[in-house]
Amino acid sequence: MKRIITLLLLGLAPFLQAQQINSTNFLKQIIPFPLGASLNPRLLEENLAYRTLAASEFNSITAENHMKMALIHPEANRFDFVKGDEIVAFAKKNKSRVHGHTLVWHNQTAQWMKDFQGDQQAWENLLKNHIQTIVKHYQGQIAGWDVVNEAFLDDGSLRPSIWADHIPDYLAKSFTWAHEADSKALLFYNDYGQDGKPKKMEAILNMVQDFKKRQIPIHGLGLQMHISIQSKNEEIKQVIDQSTATGLHIHFSEVDVAVNPKNNPDFVMDTIVQKAQSEKFLLLFSSYAAIPVKQQYGITFWNVGDKDSWLRGYFKRPKEYPLLFDESYQRKGAYEELYQWVKKK
Ligand code: G3I
Repeated sequence: MKRIITLLLLGLAPFLQAQQINSTNFLKQIIPFPLGASLNPRLLEENLAYRTLAASEFNSITAENHMKMALIHPEANRFDFVKGDEIVAFAKKNKSRVHGHTLVWHNQTAQWMKDFQGDQQAWENLLKNHIQTIVKHYQGQIAGWDVVNEAFLDDGSLRPSIWADHIPDYLAKSFTWAHEADSKALLFYNDYGQDGKPKKMEAILNMVQDFKKRQIPIHGLGLQMHISIQSKNEEIKQVIDQSTATGLHIHFSEVDVAVNPKNNPDFVMDTIVQKAQSEKFLLLFSSYAAIPVKQQYGITFWNVGDKDSWLRGYFKRPKEYPLLFDESYQRKGAYEELYQWVKKK
């Protein structure tokens, strides 16, 4: 009985603390690095609560989908910057930084790219033109780019893709082309699930070492951090340490903490799960705060409120609550806990 009461009180703690933070205080004001979210322009336009929160709670913005190949370059001779430009304009209006995601990926490629026929030179021209047209379009407006996304498999091998298949050394070439187009933009390699996948992590570190040796411009590593309450803390800390040891900028680029990874239809977000989720957010923020300041590019959440998360749509997982804001765009207990933790530091 005593244990149950203690657990209940522990679970309630964040909500009791919530009373102390008023709506004019924001986490972004008290953390020393940019706090970001990926955004969906349709929600920005249609949903006032979403728009308000996106403007007030974050000072770094990533387009969740609209700078990806299929959307920004839908036909060989046509780029579509409309939605990307809307995101940039929103960020500008709110004095937020913009992070670009993503120039090269095996996924969300345009159909015309999948159908493309040509020799190596033709493929290189295609990819170089893609990268440089976009980077130049946003020159001076985008602080950093995920140049290549998710190029390695869990076993550390290069992921097969139209790029890997047709362009030898496509990673290094992509970074070089991006740098030629905007020498001031920070260039990131972005990937997920390095924790518990030592071969994948090793492949990323080898790539960094190789780039440095060949003077290929790379400035940062994006660790997506799509983690869950079951992720192992030691494994997370290890990949953060290994990434930090490169000396590059570190971006936790797509943070969410899944609470119902097995998609249990009867799942209930009780106080014990809330606490486990809060602890994971705290682990991420405290580990991030320990990274040397000059390497801190920021922490970005993958969208704003629980119901906007890709985990619900993509995995058809309606009972998933992975972010800091609930379905009514109210701060969750985890937000309050983070706020109090930063305040006390
Ligand atoms: O735009 C079409 C719409 O016209 C159509 O009616 C609808 C029907 O399914 O699909 C819409 O496209 C969806 C798109 O998101 C835009 O909403 C795609 O089906 C859907 O697959 C796509 O999912 C995105 C996913 O990347 C694609 O792999 C998620 O929103 C996005 O959050 C997710 O983001 C990735 C990062 O870029 C890289 N890291 C992993 C992360 C999560 O997968």
